[in-house]
Amino acid sequence: MNQIFRNDIADLLARRRKGRPLEAPFYTSAEIFDLDLRLIFARHWIFVAVEPDVPEPGDFITVAIGAASVVILRDDAMDIRAFHNVCRHRGARIVNQPKGFVGNLLCPYHNWTYDLTGNLIHTGSMAPDFDPRCHGLKPVHLRRLEGLIFICLADAPPEDFDDMARQVGPYIAPHRLSDLKIAAQSEIIEEGNWKLTIENNRECFHCGNHPELLQSLFHFFGYSAEDVTAEDRAQYELFTRTQAEFEAIWEANGLPWRPIEQLEGRPTAFRVERLAMAEAGESFTLDTRAACRKPVAPFSTMRLGTQHVHLQPNSWFHFLSDHVVTFSVFPLAADRTLVCTRWLVHKDAIEGVDYDIDTLTKVWQATNAQDGNFVAWAQAGIGDPAYEPGPLSPTEYMVENFDTWYCERLSAELQHPGAG
Ligand code: FES
Ligand SMILES: [Fe+2]
Repeated sequence: MNQIFRNDIADLLARRRKGRPLEAPFYTSAEIFDLDLRLIFARHWIFVAVEPDVPEPGDFITVAIGAASVVILRDDAMDIRAFHNVCRHRGARIVNQPKGFVGNLLCPYHNWTYDLTGNLIHTGSMAPDFDPRCHGLKPVHLRRLEGLIFICLADAPPEDFDDMARQVGPYIAPHRLSDLKIAAQSEIIEEGNWKLTIENNRECFHCGNHPELLQSLFHFFGYSAEDVTAEDRAQYELFTRTQAEFEAIWEANGLPWRPIEQLEGRPTAFRVERLAMAEAGESFTLDTRAACRKPVAPFSTMRLGTQHVHLQPNSWFHFLSDHVVTFSVFPLAADRTLVCTRWLVHKDAIEGVDYDIDTLTKVWQATNAQDGNFVAWAQAGIGDPAYEPGPLSPTEYMVENFDTWYCERLSAELQHPGAG
């Protein structure tokens, strides 16, 4: 990184105003986008998959983070491993499909072959002194959290993953992710910077523009009592009464529900909170009833609301009684972002009998499409010379948390040897 650019970044970070979103270059500059890939996405724990992506030995998926491709697979001992998808011979991409099943990993170029633990087991003719033990696939750090799979491309990943897992694990374990199957998934590209995608996820100030979601969601995520307008007062009082009713249900089911919020001040930052839902309170469906008749675990009721989990930098989740939805975000360019959504139901649930895909996915398909528009509109305006960061509402405090986290992490990683 040249000194002028380093000084520009330092200036931009130094003059950041609390209570406002970031200045335009953080969303539009190709240089800062490269920095985001190197210092955020290659140095932090990134949520990439769920255990049901690779239920059986030999199952794999590939994940791209910038120029890096990583193969995530289940080995014969049922461990889940991650490897750089780069042949140790002359560098060819070994796996060129997004997912599938393999016995071994066969490079398509000169047929070097690796087993599922990454050992090089076949090369054809090489010099007599060639040692295959020195040419296994390069591993990538991988951690599992109650069925969620994270990778970190750094040599020395952030050490606070265990602390996050210790706090978040009890909230999501009851939803038994490893007993589920992926019923549906979608990949959409939002025409905006990845930070706009995350910021948009961290507030419900815009939720009035999600008519499908509002059938089941009380739109007070991020609100305190003082933030509620006179016209929303009656609805807010219904929400607080409903929340108290749900707290009793969560207690009766042994489900942790109290919010924990550590969205800044640490590398592996997070937030958990269980929230009541409206009407039947069962699921993100248009009629608020469960989308899948078979619960993810033997709860006493389907009326459990939603367990929200938010992780920096790239994911959020909803854990319900009947299904789980996961969201992961991957930067493609300064103004393009991939959003992957997975809907999971119990592995014994039968499509067409216990659930149908349309009912299961309708609300978040619609909501994702609407959010994609919000992000694209924000990107367009931020790229306009007239843009200046405007004041955040108190209800958008988690946007502030995310921007603070981002600036903290960029500053910290710029001090790190090898930042570039
Ligand atoms: S590049 Fe893979 S075998 Fe040659
Ligand atoms: Fe939204």
